[in-house]
Amino acid sequence: MSDPGDSHNFVPVARVGDIESGKGKLVKVDAREIALFFIDGEYLAIKNFCPHEADALWRGRVEEGAVICPNHGWRFELKTGKCTSLGDRDVRTYPVKVEGDRILVGI
Ligand code: FES
Repeated sequence: MSDPGDSHNFVPVARVGDIESGKGKLVKVDAREIALFFIDGEYLAIKNFCPHEADALWRGRVEEGAVICPNHGWRFELKTGKCTSLGDRDVRTYPVKVEGDRILVGI
């Protein structure tokens, strides 16, 4: 995850309590669709579209810090966006920070 103090523009996308632990939520910033997850007390954000056939990663099952694409099962590490099913298919990650009860994603 990037340093929240860097040059990203942080946009509020959800509130603390909106996402059940171990689950994802689809959030939108302008035209971007972002999959926001709440895992072990930490919020993690990745691009929502699977690079295989663009299924929505926010709907995927989470296990051991990774999300499993609901369509064909490709696996992506949530902290790094790394695809561990196939090389060179990583997804973009976004920095996340919490201010009060607001969750902000850095664009
Ligand atoms: S669409 Fe995600 S693995 Fe096929």
